[in-house]
Amino acid sequence: AELAPRFPLTANASPAAADAHAQVMDHLTFGVAFTDHMARASWTPAEGWHAHRVGAFAPLTLSPAAAVLHYGQEIFEGLKAYRHDDGSVWTFRPGFNAARLNASARRLALPELPEEDFVASLAALVGADERWVPEAAGSSLYLRPFMIATEPFLGVRSAHAIEYLVIASPVGPYFVHGFQPVAIWVAQDYHRVGRGGMGAAKTGGNYAASLLPQQEAYAKGFEQVCFLDAATGTHLEELGGMNVFVIDADGTVRTPSLTGTILEGGTRASILQLLRDGGRTVREETIALTELLEQIRSGEVVEAFACGTAAVITPIGRLAGEDFDVTVADGAPGQVTTELYTTLTDIQYGRREDPHDWMYRL
Ligand code: COI
Repeated sequence: AELAPRFPLTANASPAAADAHAQVMDHLTFGVAFTDHMARASWTPAEGWHAHRVGAFAPLTLSPAAAVLHYGQEIFEGLKAYRHDDGSVWTFRPGFNAARLNASARRLALPELPEEDFVASLAALVGADERWVPEAAGSSLYLRPFMIATEPFLGVRSAHAIEYLVIASPVGPYFVHGFQPVAIWVAQDYHRVGRGGMGAAKTGGNYAASLLPQQEAYAKGFEQVCFLDAATGTHLEELGGMNVFVIDADGTVRTPSLTGTILEGGTRASILQLLRDGGRTVREETIALTELLEQIRSGEVVEAFACGTAAVITPIGRLAGEDFDVTVADGAPGQVTTELYTTLTDIQYGRREDPHDWMYRL
């Protein structure tokens, strides 16, 4: 007998009209349009996780006293569903994201969600909304699982009513110009997180902390901000929504080590694995800003890039701050960066062998 799905379709959404669907799919940007359904489950201390379901994508009914609105008890994930040439739909390393969601849940005093439920929620949502998985090159269905504290209570403690949801958005590239170098502003007055804080958790508050620096950098003509560690203000951590890598002239690839103040990206982890597979020297270590600037100026560092699920791999062409402004090599995408982008996206879109079984068919 067929097993009952973990996330049954309990309410059929009225599907977006064919012309509205076509309008979205023909003009894919990042994170502005959403599919017809959402997956959901509820949690209380007495019942645990229950009421797993897929229903219509619709506004939430939430008490204005819901804890998430006041104290930010929230975590999220980001992954993508990719359409392969034969029409099948796959996601990338959902077990990684399930484990990270639970690491974030522990830090935010939220209940952990079994990995099987996490993966089933993605499969159920994509099953209901398959027609929203785009086919255009470089496009995908961005999946956004998240967990919020809904209990109406203004006391400061972990909430006793929690909702887990997954929504989906058909997307093109995160940066409007696609695989083109971006300019990065290094924030020296603002920090994203401190030691012992929530930096290793994927929680809204960390992104909220990045908005003002991001806005100021954008006004200066930069696409993203790079944050330095709060304890010493001397070494690179991450871009707030992406990890960062640099490549030396001798081929060594370096990225900041996971110190507890950096989010461990799935793209970051996969890039490290691909580089190690290829026999390249890879170092997770402290990257001091002063040294890095010297190395870029002297030509010892020849490439830099940002990476994340949303951004994939994006070359960094320029790095500037209050008292410096350097171009990485000639500012164009480097060879190693370009090769990594091709290898990773070829695996994700099913154009190349998947040696680590990262792809999961939805
Ligand atoms: C990602 O999914 O890559 C994120 O980190 C979220 C955000 C930057 C869109």
